[in-house]
Amino acid sequence: MKIEFRNEPLTELECPVLVAFGFETHPASSGTVERLPSATRTLLDELQASGEMTGKPYECTLIHHPAGVAAQKLLVVGAGKKEKFEDAHLRRLSGAAVRYLRARNVHELAWLLGGRDAKAAGIQNVVEGAIVADYDADTLRTERNGERRIERLILAAEGAVDDAARAALERGRIIAEAQTFTRELVNEPANTLTPTKLAQRAGEMAARYGLECQVLGPQEIRDLKMGAFWAVAQGSDEPAKLIVVRYAHREAPPSPVIGLVGKGITFDTGGISIKPAADMHEMKTDMAGGATMLGVMQAIAQLKPKIRVIALVPATENMPGGNAYKPGDVITSMSGKTIEILNTDAEGRLVLADALTYAKQLGCTALIDAATLTGAVTIALGNITTGVFGWNQEWVDRILASAAATGEKMWQLPVDEDYRDLYKSAIADIANTGGRYGGAITAAMFVGEFAGDTPWVHLDIAGTRWSNEDKPYRAKGPTGHGVPTLVHLLTSLGG
Ligand code: BES
Ligand code: MN
Ligand code: ZN
Repeated sequence: MKIEFRNEPLTELECPVLVAFGFETHPASSGTVERLPSATRTLLDELQASGEMTGKPYECTLIHHPAGVAAQKLLVVGAGKKEKFEDAHLRRLSGAAVRYLRARNVHELAWLLGGRDAKAAGIQNVVEGAIVADYDADTLRTERNGERRIERLILAAEGAVDDAARAALERGRIIAEAQTFTRELVNEPANTLTPTKLAQRAGEMAARYGLECQVLGPQEIRDLKMGAFWAVAQGSDEPAKLIVVRYAHREAPPSPVIGLVGKGITFDTGGISIKPAADMHEMKTDMAGGATMLGVMQAIAQLKPKIRVIALVPATENMPGGNAYKPGDVITSMSGKTIEILNTDAEGRLVLADALTYAKQLGCTALIDAATLTGAVTIALGNITTGVFGWNQEWVDRILASAAATGEKMWQLPVDEDYRDLYKSAIADIANTGGRYGGAITAAMFVGEFAGDTPWVHLDIAGTRWSNEDKPYRAKGPTGHGVPTLVHLLTSLGG
């Protein structure tokens, strides 16, 4: 998608579709609709009076040959209640416009900037929303309607465009494209996206954006004594990979070093504790945490905050097989802690355990992990909200603040000593499951045991990694949820 600013008067701005938004109850006289010439607004007054145009969220009203502007068509998008409006809502409005117009074979649109969306944050949101909306998950369909893409987005500014506005456009493009990279990885089936392939994709991304990438194979994983990661990996014929991607700004202080650890299970059958057949195909997405961290690295490589970041993705399949680990096994993790396996389907916490231990060994002083860790978190929060966990409230608060700024929904769930009893083992240091009740909490706490005293936050994205329905502003399928929040956090840490 080409994106550019234009600042000619609306009476002269030639484009297939000009897009404006208006608020509920008075869409013909609010939002960016206010910037339209009076001849155009007379038309809109009629639509409002007749009740055809209400301004309800994402309502789209398309007008052919609008009076008073050079555009061939005018699209008015409903922005909902004005009192509830926030900058982040602009993403959904531009997204809704993009999806509505794509479906009508439009390839070029002009977004009317005005008021708050003419400021840097607004421009970034409009750009992000448009690119996110221009993605569909059906890339493997042979009769895909590939030409239904938006080729050009014009940002119709009122006056001269300054450097801050140009930077915001670029920033929005970088973040949304990183999110697309994450979504493509999550969407790719497990027969082609093996751990080896995931490592290759990480390597290509790193080479392209000037990051350092190192991939450890089965021998190195065993040599590092990653007994927990290895236990999961040993049941698969596909070689396990530990992907390590590094970013460091030349002027970054020696600390903090942020460790981003992402679960990279390219397919989760459940192992010997095998999953039911019904939804097992969804487990091709069990590397979404890893894909999130790789997307974040792609973005910060371009945004260049003055910090140090190491991303680690322990990648393997979780398979049943002659070599697979078994319920009842006791394994020794890299940290030395022994773990009794009660359920081989609780594999995510095992690969994260060793990856976190290794992250600390590499010098990380603050940790964030993202993982499709538990079905339990989807019971608690649905597909809408990511579960956030951690002992260090300051670190948790930073994530929550970044989530709020980007409009991604995240919610803190508790961690508490009293839950520890649930994953006690009779024969080893800890057990790998804590039962059904509070399953998202005990899973998070298990992972946290390996972070130890290092500030750590865990994001359980099992629900939010995927959307089961089309939304007006985003196609169903992989969401890339978490990328904007983490990029916001890292760039705010590093100016
Ligand atoms: N990858 C799954 C969790 C999951 C479920 C992700 C649904 C996305 C959608 C994870 O490895 C798992 O199987 N967790 C088990 C843990 C249980 C055995 C303690 C679960 O949630 O049932
Ligand atoms: Mn599992
Ligand atoms: Zn899993």
